[in-house]
Amino acid sequence: MVRSPAPPGPGADERSWSGQDGGARGPPPGRGALRRAIGLRGGAREDQGARDRVKIHEYQAKEILRKFGVAVPRGYLAVTPLEAEGAARQLGGGICAVKAQIHAGGRGKGGGVRLARSPDEARQHAEAMLGMMLKTSQTGPDGQQVRKVYLEEGCRIARELYLGMTLDRDVGRLAVMASVEGGVDIEEVAAQHPERILREWISPLTGLMPFQARRLAFGLGMQGDSVGAFVRFATGLYNAYVATDASLAEINPLVITVGGDVLALDAKMNFDDNALYRHPDIAAMRDPDEEDPKEAAAREYDLSYITLDGDIGCMVNGAGLAMATMDVIQLSGGAPANFLDVGGGADEEKVTAAFKIILSDPHVKAVLVNIFGGIMKCDVIANGIVAAAKQVGLSIPLVVRLEGTNVELGKDILAHSELAITPADDLGDAARKVVQAARAA
Ligand SMILES: Nc1ncnc2c1ncn2[C@@H]1O[C@H](COP(=O)(O)OP(=O)(O)OP(=O)(O)O)[C@@H](O)[C@H]1O
Ligand SMILES: [Mg+2]
Repeated sequence: MVRSPAPPGPGADERSWSGQDGGARGPPPGRGALRRAIGLRGGAREDQGARDRVKIHEYQAKEILRKFGVAVPRGYLAVTPLEAEGAARQLGGGICAVKAQIHAGGRGKGGGVRLARSPDEARQHAEAMLGMMLKTSQTGPDGQQVRKVYLEEGCRIARELYLGMTLDRDVGRLAVMASVEGGVDIEEVAAQHPERILREWISPLTGLMPFQARRLAFGLGMQGDSVGAFVRFATGLYNAYVATDASLAEINPLVITVGGDVLALDAKMNFDDNALYRHPDIAAMRDPDEEDPKEAAAREYDLSYITLDGDIGCMVNGAGLAMATMDVIQLSGGAPANFLDVGGGADEEKVTAAFKIILSDPHVKAVLVNIFGGIMKCDVIANGIVAAAKQVGLSIPLVVRLEGTNVELGKDILAHSELAITPADDLGDAARKVVQAARAA
């Protein structure tokens, strides 16, 4: 099993460290590099396995951190240039940062972070940013549309550092990482100079100990009052991480100001969606504009769906069978376009929804339906397939392999549907047929 993703759920972990997918196809370079470089294994698996991590914007992460005593600059959100100008005035009318709010990093290099010297200039920057398709190394070739900007008071930076936190599954503890190489591409640093990343692992019994935070502070070359400020900062970040069931917290850059203050200039937080029911406030922070519409639709119907970069759409019941199906497709020389588990008790409506989601992906050239009828009956599935195919006007090859309860009834429904469905006898046969169909398309 090489490229199959872990099913969404407890087995999955952070998809990227500092990276984000933004619905882009195929992994951008460097994804998971930091995790691997710092010795957190499983980068490749996590790259594909954590599509369902909950992401929020920088301004929202800062809102949360503020509540936990983490020092962040003052700031206001704006959705129009005029609001941006007003926000800049609220901030005192001096130098402020205008920051595009999209779920992707690397904004600075792409023109998504600009300093303004006056409210007038802040308005102009906002004018240029709002509505633009911001392209960064993490957005994919089309970029992501900027719908909101965050106005933040300008900060006189003496040093830019890095501080991150995530679960190290091998050790079973939270790992805290810090580096003097903040602000730049931390993944590159991790890959080229792993020794420049300092690490501490936190015991769940004690939490982050002050001596650990101090050790990081000294390792970062801090002196005087900054050490205490850093300890308070790291402790606040840790408390926020645990209290919100986060899966990633990343401050890049963490700055030391000319005055010696320690501040979060950027903030990224991801959350474990299995725990989201405990945090309605965080659930409400979800921004549908930033999510893959297919994955958002799947969530609505309670389907486990993950976009992948191949061209064969898959509809399967059961996570294990879905993974096996993807493996066999790859073994036959093809590449799955998605992971989709319709679940054990799917009904016709759910199957129809799943089918529509698969077909809405323009990369899909052929579809393989592989269902084992246990709790779910094959005739129900067959009816769902026929209904969906008729509704959406199926125009690409469809290979169906059914097995289990009411299989003969199911096959009969498909055979009499007047749809061009290719039946398959077993999984190997189905995979060969669908790969062939995708190639011919
Ligand atoms: N409030 C501010 N005052 C002064 N400079 C700032 C401020 N906010 C950001 N900057 C500068 O802009 C740079 C980029 O900002 P930031 O890290 O928020 O965006 P980014 O490029 O998207 O980063 P990432 O790739 O980590 O998401 C910072 O390293 C910092 O030098
Ligand atoms: Mg940053």
